[in-house]
Formats: sequence, C-alpha cells, structure tokens
Amino acid sequence: MSFSIIGKSIAESVTLKLNETAAILRAKGEPVIHLGIGEPKSKAPLDAITAAASLLNTGDIRYTPADGIPALKQAIIRFTVDHYGRVVAPENVIASGGAKQSIMVALQAILDPQDEVIFPAPYWVSYPEMVKLCGAVPVPVHPEDGTFYPRLQDIEQVCGSYTKAIIINSPNNPTGVIYSEQFIAEIVEFCEKRGIYLIMDDIYNRLAFGGRKPANCYKYLKSGINDSKLILINGVSKQYAMTGFRIGWAVANKKLIEVMTNIQSHQTSGPSVVLQAAAVGAINGIQSSVESLRTTLENNTKVMMEQLHAFTGLRVTKPDGAFYCFVDFSNYNKNSTQLALFLLEKVRVITVPGVEFGLDGYLRLSTCGSIKDITQGIERIKWAIDPNSPNELYIGERKLTRDWL
Ligand SMILES: Cc1ncc(COP(=O)(O)O)c(C=O)c1O
Repeated sequence: MSFSIIGKSIAESVTLKLNETAAILRAKGEPVIHLGIGEPKSKAPLDAITAAASLLNTGDIRYTPADGIPALKQAIIRFTVDHYGRVVAPENVIASGGAKQSIMVALQAILDPQDEVIFPAPYWVSYPEMVKLCGAVPVPVHPEDGTFYPRLQDIEQVCGSYTKAIIINSPNNPTGVIYSEQFIAEIVEFCEKRGIYLIMDDIYNRLAFGGRKPANCYKYLKSGINDSKLILINGVSKQYAMTGFRIGWAVANKKLIEVMTNIQSHQTSGPSVVLQAAAVGAINGIQSSVESLRTTLENNTKVMMEQLHAFTGLRVTKPDGAFYCFVDFSNYNKNSTQLALFLLEKVRVITVPGVEFGLDGYLRLSTCGSIKDITQGIERIKWAIDPNSPNELYIGERKLTRDWL
C-alpha cells in the first residue's frame, strides 16, 4: 500500500491514544489513575448547555457560514475586548472546530513547503505535526539556560530567511509556566520588525495562578490589527471545560482570516451550529465556572507540588497556570517512554512521556483529576521507582509486591 510522504511523516496523537488506553483498561475493571489527561473534569457551564439544547429543540440544524455564526463572532469580539482590551471587527474573527483547527488553518494559510516555524521546547505535541502537515519544517528551540523560559536570544539564534512564523503558548502545555511580560513584549516587537507571523496560543490564558495575569500580546503591538501578522488563538475547551464541544477561534488581520475561511470552507465547512450555540452561551453567560475551575486547578497543583517535593530525586518547576506539572524523572530513567510504559504496566498510572513534548527524561502529570487521583497516583509512582519505599502496596484489595528494585 502506498501513502503520501506527508501522511507517513505524521505521528499519532500520543495524548489522545493514552485516553483510549485508559478507557480500555477501565472498561476491563483495572484501577487506572489517569495523570495524562489534558481536560478538566468539571461539567460544561449551564448557559452552554441550555443554548445548545434550545437550538436542538427547534430541529432547525443547518450549515453555518464557514467562519462561524454572527452571534459567535460577536461573543468572541466581546471576549477580546474583555480580556485583551482590543476592539476587533467580525472580519478579524474565524471560529473553527477547536483551537487545534484554528491553528492548523492559520498554518495552511501562511506556510509554503520548506518554510520554518519556530516554537520553544517543551512544546504542545501537535505543533511539529501540524507544521509537517503543511510540508513545512518545525524548529523547536530549547532555552539555552536549561529552564522552561525561552529568551529572545534563543529564538534569534535559529531565526533565518526561511522563518515564517513563531508559535508561543503561555501558560504553557506541558510546563504550566507563564512567560514573562518582558519576553512577550520582545517577541511581539521582534516579529513585527522582522515581518514574521506570531501565533499566540492563549488557550490557557484564564487559568493562571497566584493572581498572575499572562501578558497581553496586543499591549505591545505597534501596528493596527489589519496591518499586523499577529494571530491570537483561543477556545472554549480549557477555560469552560468544553473539550468535547470542539470550538476554538483565531483573531487576526482580515486578509488572513479571509484566506483561512476559504481553506476551512473546503475542509470542514463551519463548525457544528449546535456547538457554536453552546460556545455563545458559555462566552456570554455567567463566568463563575471559570473561576471555580481555576481555583480547583490551583489547589490541585499545590497538592501535586507538595507530593512531588516529598519525592527525592525529582526536579520540579512550579507551574504558574494551566493543568500540568512537567517533572524531571531522569534520575530514575532517562527514557521517558520506557518509564511511562513501566508505570502503566506496574501500577496502572497514566503519564505522558516528556519526549513527546521535545524533552526526554520528563513526564507530564496532569492536575485535572481529583485530589485522590493526584495523591494516590504520585504514591503509586513513588512506590514503583523509589527503592526507599516499602516493598508492598495495596491498590484497593490488590496487594502488589515489588520485585524489580
Ligand atoms: C497548547 C494547546 N493549544 C491548543 C489546544 C487545542 O485545543 P482545542 O481543544 O480547542 O482544539 C490544546 C489542547 O490540548 C493545547 O494544549
């Protein structure tokens, strides 16, 4: 059988695969703890449900404009004013089937084969594959100082004549760190000066801890939106716990939005009208669920950090937001895939290998589960790899005896 060169070059989504593995094991009655999952457990806001339900009840469910229904565009415009202080026009907005599709369509609109796209490592697993899907070249940048905080000079070093775009994600998946105000100011200015597209993936923007507010990229933009190459990405998945609704959006200059709309119109058409209605409900509705999710995540992160600090040999960086801890397990195993598989096999804990995010030796642990998931999950991991822990562990009724350390 023959497949395309691009098709063959694309890896499967490890995070989605892990969700499937967890579901299969659970269905078999296995006591799985899922510390890999990148989605909050809370319910979608009531306003989202009622908006979608009332539309469904009409039975009048049709195609929508390829770039989204006017009501959703208006809601996104309001969102952009509320959270970024920037007034944009409907022509500056496209709604897609998740932020993932907005990013993909943006990349398809701007990239030619051999163009390069830079993003700091560790990075969200989909960036390299999305760039490759366009026939372009992903260029991950590892901060030279070994931290999770990129500096402009790290990016400048790999930026050349093929560089078409830079992707920045803060709060960051997988590290949870928030890049400094100064870095965002510098990168906006740098891209503007060099005429490079800047994709700001702000999907975790409202999930910041300790009173922090992630930098607002528009604050540093000198040109007007229609003269700029800044693309702002957001969506309902994370902030409203609406991952299954698949609505995300991009805000950018109107010419780019037009090209993105043309692409999306042939790819999937507009997102489902029912789900767009739900997104309108969430964005225009009562916002208390966002704060409630944010505080839960902050608390869960605190508990996870306490557990991890009690675990000798690990290196942990405190997350400033989002719902992940990205932990250096290299003292125990430098091969993160091997370690993740080992933990799944021995103690039924799902983690995501750091190598998928461009940094081996690390595991991404999610704080989306319950406090019980977090404490028991870390306890099981500790038991499996730390020779100082007792030889036996109970998982429910099941007694495990460690014979591998
Ligand atoms: C950094 C980042 N960007 C974008 C997305 C995609 O979000 P959506 O569910 O809206 O497609 C995710 C989801 O995991 C993410 O972590």
